[in-house]
Amino acid sequence: MEVEQATADGAQGLGPGTLVDLTVNGEAHRLLVDVRATLLDVIREQLDLTGTKKGCDHGQCGACTVHVGGDAVLSCLALAVAVRGPVETIESLAAPDGRLHPMQQAFIDQEALQCGYCTPGQIMSAVSCLRTGHAGSDPEIRDFMSGNLCRCGAYPHIVAAVRQVRDAVAAVRG
Ligand code: FES
Ligand code: FES
Repeated sequence: MEVEQATADGAQGLGPGTLVDLTVNGEAHRLLVDVRATLLDVIREQLDLTGTKKGCDHGQCGACTVHVGGDAVLSCLALAVAVRGPVETIESLAAPDGRLHPMQQAFIDQEALQCGYCTPGQIMSAVSCLRTGHAGSDPEIRDFMSGNLCRCGAYPHIVAAVRQVRDAVAAVRG
């Protein structure tokens, strides 16, 4: 990633900043960011992608989970200037025509949410759980998803949603 030093003179609300090239959901952005800004704040406040939620802002709840270079990352703990690799947020999952990602559909089918605040982070982690081969059993799914808290206690339904997609993928592969 190309990073250039710059100052934020004339840029409203920012202290000394740095120009950062970030690719988010397939779109390239050159942004002037505060060197202290987290990826979470840049995604939400500068790119207006508010699907990613701020829960604790301290790396303890998983609400801010996104993918960076394909890996699940807590965006509240990542400095935007230090991000390497393309970023994917919850907004990237549905198809352009509005069709939901199978994991989004499974969360609906399994009623894996109540208030929905944790759900974008849960879904990003759930996608990662499957992609990285950690969905072999319920305990394995629970272990992988243990960093994503749900105050509504939807945990059994979340595991069922991951299981649904895992089994659907297995059925297609035969
Ligand atoms: Fe990032 Fe809670 S907001 S872990
Ligand atoms: Fe409410 Fe998880 S659905 S916090």
